[in-house]
Amino acid sequence: MEKRVALITGANKGLGRETARQLAEKGIVVFIGARDTVHGQEAVEEMRAKGLSANFVYIDMTKPESFEAAAKAIDLGFGRLDILVNNAGVLMDREYAPSETPMEIWRETLEVNVLGLIGLTRAMLPLLRKSDAGRIVNLSSNLASLTMHSDPNSDIYNSKPTAYDVSKAAVNSWTIHLAHELRDTPIKVNAAHPGWVKTDMGGDKAPLELIEGAKTSVELALLGPDGPTGTFTHRGKRIPW
Ligand SMILES: NC(=O)c1ccc[n+]([C@@H]2O[C@H](COP(=O)([O-])OP(=O)(O)OC[C@H]3O[C@@H](n4cnc5c(N)ncnc54)[C@H](OP(=O)(O)O)[C@@H]3O)[C@@H](O)[C@H]2O)c1
Repeated sequence: MEKRVALITGANKGLGRETARQLAEKGIVVFIGARDTVHGQEAVEEMRAKGLSANFVYIDMTKPESFEAAAKAIDLGFGRLDILVNNAGVLMDREYAPSETPMEIWRETLEVNVLGLIGLTRAMLPLLRKSDAGRIVNLSSNLASLTMHSDPNSDIYNSKPTAYDVSKAAVNSWTIHLAHELRDTPIKVNAAHPGWVKTDMGGDKAPLELIEGAKTSVELALLGPDGPTGTFTHRGKRIPW
């Protein structure tokens, strides 16, 4: 059987790097997508040293020309893409009230988390359509949940980094719309909440280690033909939109 091919963005560190490692451990050829060439290459070397199949591909989520170049490189090597994990993301507005978040932060957050994710997905779709089981995993967050944000009893009620939350709600909406467009194809599109995970973004107080945190993305990347599409889940459990 031909090896599956996966691209993971933001794979130079954190959840992206661990997701890539876990997918590579399953025999999948992984492309480490990152703008940080040094740590991206280091991730590749670390995996190759363990006998895993890994390649580096430069992707800056604010540079659409890098999406096209990445698609060309993957096409040249494999002619298709089976798994796209849209993992790269920023959280820049922890300390602002919703009405006070600076516009530059709105712009950068939406550019990376929403426009970059959509642009990269569009660039990869022709390759995903060549797979007989394409899987797209969009890293969302429970902070995207409108239901939880409006419930005073929910865990996240008082946690409101607005630009980040709006960007991830947009990712959820994009997930539903793209899944609908692709409903009659083998491609499945799902949004993942990884849990609160110890990373540069999640911080030291997060309860989950990387190994656990990457599992939702890995499970959605490996969904079988009967798996769901257009969902928002954590470890197989639905999260309210
Ligand atoms: N950790 C959590 O508790 C948690 C919870 C819910 C959702 N998530 C989501 O999970 C994903 C991964 O988060 P993480 O915790 O692993 O965060 P992280 O350690 O801060 O990693 C973020 C990744 O995104 C990359 N990135 C940011 N801007 C980029 C750009 N313009 N171009 C290319 N790459 C860019 C970073 O690259 P650089 O190193 O070059 O900046 C890094 O590789 C994010 O989408 C996040 O929103 C995380």
